[in-house]
Amino acid sequence: MTTLILGVAGNLGSQLKIAYADSDVIGWDRVDFDFLDFDLLKQKLLKLKPGQIINAVAYNAVDKCEEDEKEANLAWKLNRDLPGVLADYCLQAQIPLLHYSTDYVFGGDGRLAGAYVETDQPQPLNIYGQTKLAGEQEIARRALLGLKYYIVRTSKLFGPLGKSEHAKASFFDLMLKLSADKEELKVVDAEISCFTYTPDLAQASKLLLDEKAVRGIYHLTNSGAVTWYQALQYFFDIAQIKTQLSAISADAWPRPAKRPVYSALANTRRPQLRSWQEALTDYWHNKNK
Ligand SMILES: NC(=O)c1ccc[n+]([C@@H]2O[C@H](COP(=O)([O-])OP(=O)(O)OC[C@H]3O[C@@H](n4cnc5c(N)ncnc54)[C@H](OP(=O)(O)O)[C@@H]3O)[C@@H](O)[C@H]2O)c1
Repeated sequence: MTTLILGVAGNLGSQLKIAYADSDVIGWDRVDFDFLDFDLLKQKLLKLKPGQIINAVAYNAVDKCEEDEKEANLAWKLNRDLPGVLADYCLQAQIPLLHYSTDYVFGGDGRLAGAYVETDQPQPLNIYGQTKLAGEQEIARRALLGLKYYIVRTSKLFGPLGKSEHAKASFFDLMLKLSADKEELKVVDAEISCFTYTPDLAQASKLLLDEKAVRGIYHLTNSGAVTWYQALQYFFDIAQIKTQLSAISADAWPRPAKRPVYSALANTRRPQLRSWQEALTDYWHNKNK
């Protein structure tokens, strides 16, 4: 059975490819063709006849789509319409679809503590969150017709850079780079949520499919919830970076898109992933091998 990974050159997609290295796997990305050419996408799916599809494609520029209508349109197409097209194909072919969503579907209820469980009511605060929720709903509509689906909500990804020339460095790598020529870095000590190491998420996603788990929504992140500042403090400690870190409030660093004050995800349906501290330590050691 062929597993098809869409967005295989992205940060998560590249790790999914590694997780499936010993299997029959095919990966597609923008270098192959534009997935928004839905007719071409359908033709290619009909020709390949995959046994399951993992969709790691997304529009992720949270701030850009808040300010620019063209970008927002692209976000709706990639995050809502594409999952709908994939869900239609998977329903018709009777194969499972695993799709990723985000903690940013939450936050609009003003919650300050108590992690969100899979059945909590989403209430996004920004356009990115709205488009990702709409993608979930496109899939859920086909679920009523019998689609075997997995919606995996995750948050704050970090890990090796994807193969795509546009791949975006993670928060930790960005800060590492900045620390090279700055004596002090100001970091937001707010927006409590969970960090997720992409190799861990890729393995956990594969297990979900391998075990033919019950269809539905899953929350998969590394364990523990922190602010950006707390996570960076830990990282700079293990990386022995001497740059001074100063905690600032979210208001002191205004950005176009509103972020949830609190968006930690509780995983109540699957084995817990290891702590973010363990995963981050592993990432640092692997990076320096
Ligand atoms: N990153 C996070 O912190 C985070 C947090 C929560 C949830 N998630 C979710 O996790 C999933 C994976 O995220 P990620 O950070 O790994 O994404 P990513 O690195 O941006 O990867 C997305 C991939 O999709 C490709 N792609 C985009 N538009 C395409 C198009 N029209 N045709 C063909 N390929 C196209 C991209 O190609 P190009 O590189 O050429 O654009 C890229 O390789 C997404 O569903 C995301 O919403 C991410």
